[in-house]
Amino acid sequence: MATNITFHAGSVDHSERAQLLGQKGATIWFTGLSASGKSTIACALEQHLLHLKKAAYRLDGDNIRFGLNKDLGFDEKSRNENIRRIGEVSKLFADSSLICCTAFISPYRQDRQVARDLHEKGGLHFIEVYVDAPLSVVEQRDPKGLYKKARAGEIKDFTGISAPYEAPEKPEIHIKTDEHDVAACVRIITEYLTTNEII
Ligand SMILES: Nc1ncnc2c1ncn2[C@@H]1O[C@H](COP(=O)(O)OP(=O)(O)O)[C@@H](O)[C@H]1O
Ligand SMILES: [Mg+2]
Repeated sequence: MATNITFHAGSVDHSERAQLLGQKGATIWFTGLSASGKSTIACALEQHLLHLKKAAYRLDGDNIRFGLNKDLGFDEKSRNENIRRIGEVSKLFADSSLICCTAFISPYRQDRQVARDLHEKGGLHFIEVYVDAPLSVVEQRDPKGLYKKARAGEIKDFTGISAPYEAPEKPEIHIKTDEHDVAACVRIITEYLTTNEII
């Protein structure tokens, strides 16, 4: 823990920044099982928002583990730290007036709460999107062959098989990807953003 450090506040706060840039920041936090559709929907949403001339940027589980979090594994403590860092980074993006779409399994309720608290204490929007599909469906999809490997015992601590997934109790948005296609999922989220005057 560092000592002798002082937080340096800027001269422009996030609401003034939003006014000057004509865009509010927010974090759209996707959570769900592997292959539930987080990356696919986050990509499509990012693209849709950019076409609306809204600055949006996606932080994706797999990509972040190549860089920022390449020192972390998948045990519970590493997953906590993975999400803590993403919570901090997404908060910085939201504070900068960007719409940050994070796509991480983020299986623990407490970790998601930490990310939410960070945003809400800073007066920033945090929109939790539960990307929901039954295990039988995601296991059938298995785009990366990970469930097959997890069932064979080749991957340990695999969410839904050998590690827990704690579903959100009160997500802002709950989408069932076995019932809605990608375009419909993007529409549901965009409607939420419009109704809540984020875009
Ligand atoms: N409604 C839907 N939303 C998102 N993905 C879907 C949907 N229906 C089917 N899929 C498929 O499910 C898979 C989801 O993979 P991915 O987005 O990588 O999941 P995750 O990022 O949650 O691990 C993709 O192969 C995608 O084409
Ligand atoms: Mg993904």
